[in-house]
Amino acid sequence: MTKTVSHPLFARMYPRINAFAEAHGSLDHRRELLDGVRGRVVEIGAGTGANFRHYGPDVEQVIAVEPEPRLRALAEQSAKTGSAPVSVLPGRAEELPVDDGVADVVVASLVLCTIADVPAALAEAARVLKPTGELRFYEHVRSGRPGFLRWQRLLDPLWRLLGGGCHLTRDTVRAITDAGFTIEQVRHFEFLIKGRAGLASPSVIGIARPPKPRVP
Ligand SMILES: C[S@@+](CC[C@H](N)C(=O)[O-])C[C@H]1O[C@@H](n2cnc3c(N)ncnc32)[C@H](O)[C@@H]1O
Repeated sequence: MTKTVSHPLFARMYPRINAFAEAHGSLDHRRELLDGVRGRVVEIGAGTGANFRHYGPDVEQVIAVEPEPRLRALAEQSAKTGSAPVSVLPGRAEELPVDDGVADVVVASLVLCTIADVPAALAEAARVLKPTGELRFYEHVRSGRPGFLRWQRLLDPLWRLLGGGCHLTRDTVRAITDAGFTIEQVRHFEFLIKGRAGLASPSVIGIARPPKPRVP
């Protein structure tokens, strides 16, 4: 499987989209996501490295995997600015360049909406996590309101085209439990910008524990 995903237009737009979102609340969401994270972290689809500055002194090492070359170059720059040591690697979440059972935390932020094969990515997250580890997730998800979900479904193809393959209608908490994780905590909320809901407003932030390893 190739390690690369190429979305040149999205990669050019994403730093501005992210700066706008951070100015309107996602900076706080990132802080909430990463509060208390410690040890060895694997971050999947790290984008520009927007999370790196939130890794505190208890983080020993971050292995950040990003398949899009332009975004990865930006992540490499961000890696120089945070306090935690960050290595940025090419690769896809479906095939992580990381050994089994080494991570205390796997971080997925705004990425399970985009990854092509979510079950494969979650199986990889489970593989690289220690049995005591945790999956931290911050994702926009499908709406629980039928009228809103109809709009998400209608506009999903266009959104995917413009958003580097991002889907509006994924039930990510369900995907995480289907992969055998146990949800330890989850906060569902609407990420409103200037008080208004957008198609990607329905969101979740949470922590999940990996499936117990099978006894042979
Ligand atoms: C909306 S951006 C989010 C970036 C970052 N996680 C953040 O919180 O800002 C989605 C990211 O997923 C990455 N991506 C797409 N397909 C992927 C895959 N199969 N494995 C890992 N990352 C992927 C994209 O290149 C992009 O960096």
